[in-house]
Amino acid sequence: MAFSYMPGFGNDFETETLPGSLPQGRNSPQRPAYGLYAEQLSGSPFTAPHGTNERSWLYRIRPSVRHTGRFKGANYPLWKTAPNIGDHELALGQYRWSPVPMPSEPTDFISGMRTMTTAGDAVGQSGMAAHVYVANRSMVDDHFFNADGELMIVPQVGALRFVTEMGVIELRPGEIAVLPRGLVFKVELADKEARGYVCENYGAKFTMPDRGPIGANCLANPRDFKTPCAWFEEKETPCRLIVKWCGTFHVTELGHSPLDVVAWHGNYAPYKYDLATFSPVGAILFDHPDPSIFTVLTAPSGEEGTANVDFVIFPPRWLVAENTFRPPWYHRNIMSEFMGLVHGQYDAKEEGFVPGGISLHNQMLAHGPDASGFEKATRADLKPVKLDNTMAFMFETRFPQMLTRYAAELDTLQDNYIDCWADLKKRFNGTPEGDWS
Ligand SMILES: [Fe+2]
Repeated sequence: MAFSYMPGFGNDFETETLPGSLPQGRNSPQRPAYGLYAEQLSGSPFTAPHGTNERSWLYRIRPSVRHTGRFKGANYPLWKTAPNIGDHELALGQYRWSPVPMPSEPTDFISGMRTMTTAGDAVGQSGMAAHVYVANRSMVDDHFFNADGELMIVPQVGALRFVTEMGVIELRPGEIAVLPRGLVFKVELADKEARGYVCENYGAKFTMPDRGPIGANCLANPRDFKTPCAWFEEKETPCRLIVKWCGTFHVTELGHSPLDVVAWHGNYAPYKYDLATFSPVGAILFDHPDPSIFTVLTAPSGEEGTANVDFVIFPPRWLVAENTFRPPWYHRNIMSEFMGLVHGQYDAKEEGFVPGGISLHNQMLAHGPDASGFEKATRADLKPVKLDNTMAFMFETRFPQMLTRYAAELDTLQDNYIDCWADLKKRFNGTPEGDWS
């Protein structure tokens, strides 16, 4: 079955599966067509200003009060929530990991969530968590919603199907999806196993960055974001709903599927985006701009220009700058950088940072190209070069990222990561030429 999508970012969408199931000219008729219940899902306070006011109206077989019952506690010990400080004994440092191993026991998307870092405070609705998911089985009768934040999913291995109450998103590596806070969904695997990264954003929703002097086009373009058309199932068999709420997990038993929205309209909805449609902008003579030039989506904090989270990619692109050190420069940053690699090779680290791997450069900790990358870049013949077959990304947050015990004790933590800079020699010898021997 092919699922269809509506183009645009933050549009006021409307979609119906049965003719006439979406009320016209009003939200809440006395008796909605087909005997459906009308229900509003609010993603912003009622009184949020026009540009950030987000809500959708759902027309469903049962109202959501019938999709919850008495809750019991549930246990997902590897999914952590900020604040989660002092969870381990590992000293401060720049860290890098090889990929999180695939599980051997049956694991679905929710039980396969392994938190690497947390930042900020979920209860204060600021900050984020960076997770890796690993999974080898589909959710069948289990469903989930997260009250703590929206989820950005960056698949690295295996295609997934997000069956949500507002429609179905098929997602493969190279694409991302964003599921708003509170949305009910389950995840099916289209391949045998799956792995990827998740940013759980506790703060204001991801939005498109202002482009400033770049103008009205390039970077991510609104029409390339795809929101699913309505889809529902009428399934009257035992199901469960799992809820994440202020870092705790709860489960309730249902006699039917909660994925029963026949029609909906509004601007609070899930979407996906193909990273290959990102139109990169960069240096065409010398130097290069800050990596913020590659921001796909940004989640603002209350302070202008200071993101709760930025989602930044390092896509295939031409390097043409003259008399320029072309890789990322050495730097220290007030923001904290969690990086992953979907496929290929990242230009500042030719070895050690592999697809599925992770690096963490926390607030004010120095980083930059490894010694061999520096050697190459300072001796290269600066012809135009295409960086191809690469897709690295960064979750960058204004908050320091706290490692979880899981991350600190993971077997794939690379003990020798900081050695990658050990061979950077002193080149200063008091002459303007320096020592390049
Ligand atoms: Fe950096």
